[in-house]
Amino acid sequence: MENKSLKILLIEDDEDDAFYIKDILNEGLGSPLPNVEHFSSVDKNLKQINPFDYDLALFDYRLGKTNGIELVRNFRHQNCNIPIILMTGQGDQEVAVEAMKAGVTDYLTKGKLSIESVTKSIRYVLGLHKEAELRKQAEEKLKKSHAQLAIAYEELQTSIGKLETAQKQIIISEKLAGIGRLVAGVCHEILNPLNIISGHTQTLLMERVTDKPLKLDLNSIMEEIGRITKIITGLLKFSRKGNIELKSSNIVKELESVLILVEKDMLLEGIEIVRDFESTSARVMVDTDGIRQVFLNLLNNAKHAISNGGTLTISTEIKISGSNLQSIPTEETPSSKLNKTFQIKFIDTGAGIKKDDLEKVFEPFFTTKPEEKGTGLGLSISYSIIERHGGILEIDSKVGVGTTVIINLPIQD
Ligand SMILES: Nc1ncnc2c1ncn2[C@@H]1O[C@H](COP(=O)(O)OP(=O)(O)OP(=O)(O)O)[C@@H](O)[C@H]1O
Ligand SMILES: [Mg+2]
Repeated sequence: MENKSLKILLIEDDEDDAFYIKDILNEGLGSPLPNVEHFSSVDKNLKQINPFDYDLALFDYRLGKTNGIELVRNFRHQNCNIPIILMTGQGDQEVAVEAMKAGVTDYLTKGKLSIESVTKSIRYVLGLHKEAELRKQAEEKLKKSHAQLAIAYEELQTSIGKLETAQKQIIISEKLAGIGRLVAGVCHEILNPLNIISGHTQTLLMERVTDKPLKLDLNSIMEEIGRITKIITGLLKFSRKGNIELKSSNIVKELESVLILVEKDMLLEGIEIVRDFESTSARVMVDTDGIRQVFLNLLNNAKHAISNGGTLTISTEIKISGSNLQSIPTEETPSSKLNKTFQIKFIDTGAGIKKDDLEKVFEPFFTTKPEEKGTGLGLSISYSIIERHGGILEIDSKVGVGTTVIINLPIQD
């Protein structure tokens, strides 16, 4: 038996029986003596008793107006799960069954009460109670572990997602940086002879003004030189590092200034433009020429992608502390810088990009457009410009659904 004194509730209307049972309890349970509280009558509501005060209860079945089973039901109804022993008359089998159903832990036949039978029953019910308590604790622990495991699993999934995005971005950045170095070298090598060709061609044009067929050829050479120069200039923009002039600007105004240029054309082609602008007075440190070029590239791409009418939604908002933003802490874009960002989204309902192509769109010269419609430099230049601002440019797309381009630019307080 436990060392602390057991607090027992005895409800018995026969004073002699109560006296006898108390005696048995004192003798049977021994040291420390149990603390038995006896009530000879109780009303149905048991207002004078708090069931939670006791370790164990013993009820007589016959209790005048009420009976022991009613009391058991009342206790259980209050969610009190202490062990309860019911004392029934001889041969009351039906009562015993009903009592068990009501939540009695054990029952004793009143005529056969003895020290042995009572202590045996008490040990039995206390053992059961302890087991139930331990089981409950174990179940609760298990539930808690389950919940913790579920949280940990979710966190793991989020981390894996972030890691995958970060890896992709790092691969793109590294690839572009490598291509950038190569491109810068090659461009300079090409520009020199190109200038010489251009110079000679112009001289010839001036010297041989009267030779009409030659003039036609020379003009077409000049046109091609113009094309090459445009490509080379674009490539140099993509490859040049750190050559940007940042100044505090109203970014939404910059966006609007470019949007106006293409809006009419877009409307004529059945493209609806939805402006979902927030934080319209926010100021961001940007190279205005560079950022306008990014906007123009992205708007042109969306325009081209929406061939049979559709919607282009442009949204702007300030994002705090990396929410929705999967940042890659590289040397150029340390995560601390990305705690507060200005986010611009271009969401089009155009043709979308195939999964395989999506991995290549930032590569210079990757294009799915016919030669005269695109050189495949728009996105690689835009990526490079945003990267030089310490920002991130991301693209997501689903064929048949559309494309979303997200720009996050750091905001310094
Ligand atoms: N909004 C978009 N919807 C569908 N495809 C797109 C979108 N933006 C880009 N792409 C795909 O990515 C490719 C590369 O885009 P990028 O802007 O770099 O080059 P381009 O548009 O082909 O040519 P350029 O921009 O040099 O005129 C496109 O050819 C197109 O296949
Ligand atoms: Mg483009």
